[in-house]
Amino acid sequence: MTTSSRIDDIQPFHVMALLARAKELEAEGKDIIHMEIGEPDFPTPEPIVAAGIEAISQGDVHYTPALGLPALREAIATFYKTRYAVNVAANRVVITPGASGALMLALGVVMQEGDEVLLADPGYPCNKNFVRFLSGKVRSIAVDASSDYQLTLKHLKENWSDKTTAVMVASPSNPTGTLLAKNELMQMAAFVKEQGGYLIVDEIYHGLVYDGEVDTALKIEEHHAIDNNIIVINSFSKYFNMTGWRVGWLVAPDSLINNMDKLAQNIFLAAPTPAQQAALAAFNPETTSILESHKQEFKQRRDFLLPKLKELGFKIEVEPQGAFYIYASCEKFSKDSYQLAYDLLENIGVAITPGKDFGENKANTFVRFAYTTSIERIEEGVKRLAAYLV
Ligand SMILES: Cc1ncc(COP(=O)(O)O)c(C=O)c1O
Repeated sequence: MTTSSRIDDIQPFHVMALLARAKELEAEGKDIIHMEIGEPDFPTPEPIVAAGIEAISQGDVHYTPALGLPALREAIATFYKTRYAVNVAANRVVITPGASGALMLALGVVMQEGDEVLLADPGYPCNKNFVRFLSGKVRSIAVDASSDYQLTLKHLKENWSDKTTAVMVASPSNPTGTLLAKNELMQMAAFVKEQGGYLIVDEIYHGLVYDGEVDTALKIEEHHAIDNNIIVINSFSKYFNMTGWRVGWLVAPDSLINNMDKLAQNIFLAAPTPAQQAALAAFNPETTSILESHKQEFKQRRDFLLPKLKELGFKIEVEPQGAFYIYASCEKFSKDSYQLAYDLLENIGVAITPGKDFGENKANTFVRFAYTTSIERIEEGVKRLAAYLV
């Protein structure tokens, strides 16, 4: 029996094997500090949980329309108005099973077979796999500290071809936590529009920006009349602490919504109904104050871990402004970050993610630390690293 060749060049997450090993060690009684996990350690805020339970106990367990629960699409449009002062019509909001579903829908409606998509390396690993799955071509662009690990207008100009359909960016980014400057984003949006392509902006870590505020790319669209080519991706997973509920969203140009409706009906039918009902409670003031306290805790963790890693000898050229990640060069200790991640796990019970999970660009000399565990555990992790590495 043969299997789909589309799957052949799709890589698994290397960190999953590392996580499995960490679990084995824990089962043997070892104490593991988890700094590899890309999700908040906080529980979902109580008002959201209560709304989800209420929906289930009321029997609200049937499909919603494929584009999502109308009330949630409205609530998200209102969120854009209150949070960013930008007008987004609710019918441009599509509810999806996480940002993952949103990325798949977005690429699914804009890409043709053989089309090229521009991506930053390092970057979120699934993006290139979505493109490959849709029989497209990935053009990975090596980025470094000189552009805060983000794509720039110059990169786009150098790499755009007549096969290019879309550019994918994330701000703050995974794995680097860095932001795309508004000015750069504006110029990129204008360039992509000129070329007749799409700019897909992943804002999943919005809300987790610790120094100042960032604007949504939709604001650029509104204020500069650059429309019809920006698709914004977001989710309830990260800032809203709802990873396992599987609910996210995108905002797309009107012209794409009918095709997204058709594709959503076919590939997942709709996001989970109780999760959508729960998400309706994500914007109320009680939830917001819980989420803001979690954000403060993430900031404290970053402010603790960042200087400690530098003291240890990890090189961090660009300070992360958001998300919950620090992307650090481990060159001082090893030129094989994959091996280093395993050494740290086996010898001192510290789990981190090797650079290899985010691309090929200098991946062997980078690792990602996720501050998704308590400050006490991070402190213990730093002590172990100091004793082992220094
Ligand atoms: C940049 C980025 N986009 C999208 C996702 C997918 O998130 P979800 O499907 O849980 O909303 C992640 C998850 O780690 C991510 O880091």
